[in-house]
Amino acid sequence: MPRTAFAAIGTYVPPRVVTNHELATLMDTSDDWIRQRTGIEERHWVEPGVGASDLACEATKRALDQAGWQASDIEAIVYATLSSDHMFPGDGCFLNAKLGIPGVPAVDIRNQCTGFLYGLSIADAWIRTGQYRRVLLVGSEVHSTGLDVSTRGRDTAVIFGDGAGAALLEATDDPGRGVLATRLHADGRFARDLWTDAPGSVYSPRANQAQIDSGAIYPHMEGQKVFKHAVVKMPEVVREALDATGLTAADVKLLVPHQANLRISEMVQRSLGLPDERVFNNIQKYGNTTAASIPLCLAEGVAARGVARGDLVALAAFGAGFTWASALVRW
Ligand code: ACO
Repeated sequence: MPRTAFAAIGTYVPPRVVTNHELATLMDTSDDWIRQRTGIEERHWVEPGVGASDLACEATKRALDQAGWQASDIEAIVYATLSSDHMFPGDGCFLNAKLGIPGVPAVDIRNQCTGFLYGLSIADAWIRTGQYRRVLLVGSEVHSTGLDVSTRGRDTAVIFGDGAGAALLEATDDPGRGVLATRLHADGRFARDLWTDAPGSVYSPRANQAQIDSGAIYPHMEGQKVFKHAVVKMPEVVREALDATGLTAADVKLLVPHQANLRISEMVQRSLGLPDERVFNNIQKYGNTTAASIPLCLAEGVAARGVARGDLVALAAFGAGFTWASALVRW
């Protein structure tokens, strides 16, 4: 049975950098507060008219260049986002058109910060069962157009950023490479602790002026509850994958935690007993880019930490749903 290997990862963030100081001109916040509570120094925001599928397309083109593939080599698209260009159809279809590959199947994943890992699990199943040999897995988000950038929304507005990461996955028969395990979880009892209420099909019309005025169209988060669950569930789900494969944290060359908050990443690192040189974070530059955060951090982390062929890479995420997940990959 083939395994799923990463052939390339392309990343793209829009050029506009928004510093904490700039946010402090829009709402009652400060560079100190944001840095101390989250580790974030700046993030990137799109210009008007740019959607998540545009960022995804740029990241994919960079991945194709790295791998030496043509777009026509892609046999299927798995696309993770919570900020699709439109209500429907999913962004995978828009990306299919932008890449000029009509007929190639496209599935959208709605699992927020764990979307990339849910997508990896699906792509891995397709590849291992022989349904496809070359799959594009992309996480892309444009948060900036959906944030309440007033003091009312400051707890969420300061943490999110825009960006995309695209992984080209291919079947390999090399036993020393590829995805070893993925582990996925969800607990919908916490769905309303991190969510955007409207628009939604439970409302008729799907969004109204009252919802716009009350801020129901913006993300709402019980920050401390999310924090407390994330620091427990992320190490737990990494251990679950390690146990399933007979490995231990000592075997991990690089841990890439979803970039939600630097303090969360540091607590996950401590819980797993990993030294600094085996973990990589880049939330400082990008903020929380949700489904894009793992590929953005993985691409930079592999280079920064000198990950070589066969090294063990652990990926972990926690986010809205609540959902949480992990993956172990021999690079
Ligand atoms: N600037 C200044 N003050 C602020 C800001 C801000 N941007 N945001 C909140 N505050 C204030 C609050 O109003 C509160 O003031 P009060 O004490 O007068 O009431 C005070 O700061 C403390 O607020 P807390 O919410 O207790 O702050 P906390 O230390 O918990 O940090 C944070 C908040 C950064 C949001 C943290 O809880 C966190 O990171 N949680 C996890 C976020 C996360 O992981 N999200 C998941 C991913 S997103 C996804 O899946 C879609």
